[in-house]
Amino acid sequence: MKIKFILFMMLIGSTILLSTTASAESSMSVQDAMRAAGKATFMHRCRACHSLDPAVNSFGPSLVGVVGRPAGTLARYVYSNAMQKSKLVWTEENIRKWVENNEKLVPNTRMRHVAITDVAEQDFLIAFIKSLK
Ligand code: HEC
Repeated sequence: MKIKFILFMMLIGSTILLSTTASAESSMSVQDAMRAAGKATFMHRCRACHSLDPAVNSFGPSLVGVVGRPAGTLARYVYSNAMQKSKLVWTEENIRKWVENNEKLVPNTRMRHVAITDVAEQDFLIAFIKSLK
């Protein structure tokens, strides 16, 4: 009787362990999938002007570490006056507004107009940009 109880508890314990491991794995792969989808958008819509190398500014500034950075402050990149005076910080919310309509957020910016209006696509793009450290 006692042994059966102990076996039962062990079984429950391992089931709980297995299910938490499994859910941790599946939530990680959701994150991975979001980043991968965001990367595809980035390569298609942003990469022509933004490097993935923190040391390289091309036509646009490098976006490595941009989340949390004050706008227009990367050394060795010459921003428009509009961007330097914007006083924005690149929070997730501001990045969302920026990719939705950059000219509305910062009138007279030098960045060509982008309009990524799909919220899911914005989420994916932000997930990818956040991973650029
Ligand atoms: C045609 C070139 C071009 C494309 C395409 C482009 N950008 Fe830009 N981006 C720029 C330029 C130029 C600036 C600097 C703007 C300024 O100084 O007014 C900039 C600035 C930025 C900034 C502000 C960075 C900082 O250091 O303050 C962010 C964030 C940004 N871009 C994100 C994106 C994202 C995300 C995409 C893709 C959806 C994208 N850009 C597509 C040219 C581009």
